[in-house]
Amino acid sequence: MHIPIASDHAGLPLKQALIAALAAEGLSFDDLGTHGPESVDYPDFAHAVSAKVAGTEAFGILVCGTGIGMAIAANRHPGIRAAVLHNATEARLTRAHNNANIACLGARTTGIEVALDAIRAFLASPFEGGRHVGRVQKLDPALAKQGAAGAKTTS
Ligand code: RB5
Repeated sequence: MHIPIASDHAGLPLKQALIAALAAEGLSFDDLGTHGPESVDYPDFAHAVSAKVAGTEAFGILVCGTGIGMAIAANRHPGIRAAVLHNATEARLTRAHNNANIACLGARTTGIEVALDAIRAFLASPFEGGRHVGRVQKLDPALAKQGAAGAKTTS
């Protein structure tokens, strides 16, 4: 399973460092660009990773200057739940509660060691299900409609 990953020019150094470190731990990646320092538009790369992740069980990774633009663009895709991560706690909780499927990182805000810990936690943490199922369905109006009959949020 190759993890789809992409960055813009601002995120490129952090993306390259993440791929190098995590490949050494046995993970493999589908690097959808950008591959050079020329200025590019981050939504193009957010859309490329989102298209690979939506409707699948896959996780994706996006890196830009802050992670924020990537998350905004990715979250316009139905079925994508992209979260900006600044640490491993956010990574664990957004998997557990939001069933996030794309991790967004900022190369200008987050150092490599913290980013690595966040990605490791993101990939290792399960969705808790239970009371979070209906809430996650409500994130996406189309999914909420389908799931409305059975969705319960009790606590
Ligand atoms: C590029 O300069 C920068 O705007 C982009 O990487 C990102 O931070 C946008 O959210």
